[in-house]
Amino acid sequence: MKHDVHGSRLGEVVDPEDIGTSPGDNPTMGDVIAERLSRRDLAKGLLAVSAIAAAGPAAALPAVQRTPYRPNTTPHFRFTELAAGHDEDDHVAEGYDADILIRWGDKVLSDAPAFDPQNQSAAAQAKQFGYNNDFLGYIPLARDPHDPDWCNGLSEHGLLVVNHEYTDADLMLPVASPVTQAVVDIEMAAHGGSVLEVKKHSGKWHVVHGSPYARRITATTEMAISGPAAGNAKLKTSADPTGRKVYGMLNNCAGGVTPWGTWLTCEENFNGYFSDPSASLTGHPNEASFRRYGIPGNSFRWDTFYDRFDIKKEPNEANRFGWVIEIDPFDPTSTPIKRTALGRFKHEGAENIVNRDGRLVVYMGDDERFDYVYKFVTEGKVDRTHRARNRDLLDKGILYVARFGADGTGTWLPLVYGQGPLNAANGFASQGDVLIETRRAADLLGATRMDRPEDVEASKISGKIYVALTNNSRRTAAQVDAANPRASNLFGHIIEITPDYRDHAATTFTWEILVTCGNPLDPAVGASFNPATTENGWFGMPDNVAVDSHGRLWVATDGQNADSTGRADGLWALETKGPARGTAKHFYHVPTDAEMCGPRFTPDLETLFLAVQHPGEDSSFDDPSTRWPDFQDGVPPRPSVVVITKKGGGKIAF
Ligand code: FEO
Ligand code: CA
Ligand code: CA
Ligand code: CA
Repeated sequence: MKHDVHGSRLGEVVDPEDIGTSPGDNPTMGDVIAERLSRRDLAKGLLAVSAIAAAGPAAALPAVQRTPYRPNTTPHFRFTELAAGHDEDDHVAEGYDADILIRWGDKVLSDAPAFDPQNQSAAAQAKQFGYNNDFLGYIPLARDPHDPDWCNGLSEHGLLVVNHEYTDADLMLPVASPVTQAVVDIEMAAHGGSVLEVKKHSGKWHVVHGSPYARRITATTEMAISGPAAGNAKLKTSADPTGRKVYGMLNNCAGGVTPWGTWLTCEENFNGYFSDPSASLTGHPNEASFRRYGIPGNSFRWDTFYDRFDIKKEPNEANRFGWVIEIDPFDPTSTPIKRTALGRFKHEGAENIVNRDGRLVVYMGDDERFDYVYKFVTEGKVDRTHRARNRDLLDKGILYVARFGADGTGTWLPLVYGQGPLNAANGFASQGDVLIETRRAADLLGATRMDRPEDVEASKISGKIYVALTNNSRRTAAQVDAANPRASNLFGHIIEITPDYRDHAATTFTWEILVTCGNPLDPAVGASFNPATTENGWFGMPDNVAVDSHGRLWVATDGQNADSTGRADGLWALETKGPARGTAKHFYHVPTDAEMCGPRFTPDLETLFLAVQHPGEDSSFDDPSTRWPDFQDGVPPRPSVVVITKKGGGKIAF
């Protein structure tokens, strides 16, 4: 999410990461599933599924995870660099096509009406592609496993799972103010996610209409709550005395895809949906916790029509948001599950890797100034042969928070009830309590206060982990530390972590800063790109990262001020190996006022899916700063998924 948005129609300026509530006293396929899903199995409601290859054909064999990492085999990027710039359109490097796959308002369900910007409704929106696409996950649909070319099929036919993070009524709707229930209902229907079946035909991708997988998830979809916090008294509401059932997911930013082909989607700035018209927390049963999470956020004012968003009328509803949700995209009737074991905070993403011992390790950032980097290690092992056996794997395990030492070492600190300060004296009576107040628990452990952790992703080739820290204008010179070395860090940095023993379950690691971002020609900025980086190649505000199937790192940005940096947000390739390490190269940029989200490659590296979020943000329906991608009078800008392919075919940047 852009860092200075929300609530413009309410006349407020709300910065969702501007809570800064962390206390100041801390030290500062790849994995293929052997089962295959046939339409017949789906129709029968079976869980058999296709292959999942987050990392490509080479890594698509289970053996890859068991062999040593190959740290020196990463090829360099080969493409003609795009000129940095900004205008009303998007641009890709020469020799590549950038096609629109789907736009906000396009059909997802087969009975969805055509998009009509002048006559929108919640009923239509609930069947159409939602607003502000962010995370993109590609889950291959295997062809006949006996077909010798089936691996190629993995990259030409799959499910695309998409987060719809948030809405901007002023830009979406002809008349957004005053807030009416009809507007709120449209907003709620435009949140959530979409499952799309996508297919490549004659070199071009399209959405398969009438697909049995097609699904829209919204702010009112029924979800289950599982794991240690399920049933906790703090999750009980008048509508749900069990503390195990909740409606909707909110502000879903980045995410991940599990090796068993489920979609992890992460609630980020959930605080903005919970309101208190009197803006008073004094005496509230969740007072301390709410202050730490920035509740009430008062961004959306859905409380005007729905009591559950009023923190006085329904004091625990906000505790039911801020989680990682697991969704089975192969079964459109499945109930999404909020997995509480992974903690509650402003979750950015949930990229994951199968550790060499078979356990799944999920890396996560809490995107707030001075908040933390986390990982979750499952207790059980990933079962590569029986998909259903992984169903509850994410309910048991240990959540850790990172402490970065000044000497380049680091420690993962376990958030386990009863250990250290996580006990009754500090208000924790169970592991569920620890998870509901993950931030406060991490404060007590002395985690390192970071410069807004966004995406955290491990390379399945090298085993290194990349942490995008987007910026932190509030860090003072007195608050600088080794892992966050710049005061007033406007442009962010990227940290590379190496797990000790190359074991992602290990509790110790080493780390170094890969790049500090910003214009290297401005000495005041203190950027540290490789000198081979051109004037087009540097970037700031790293957000989503993607490690492709050859282990190469791509960085998407959010929040570069085009007027001051001369560049729109976009996608940069960043070398991590050898003498070229730290060299960045510009590949794609978004239209006016958009951010770049969701970089996701197909396993064969011939397709790159990108999400263009909030084009035209901070302008209005009547006078938008761009009308991308339609450029038609009366049609507002439309957040859209873009497909990048090489002209004439072939691997991207090879
Ligand atoms: Fe939704 Fe932290 O970006
Ligand atoms: Ca961001
Ligand atoms: Ca983000
Ligand atoms: Ca990522």
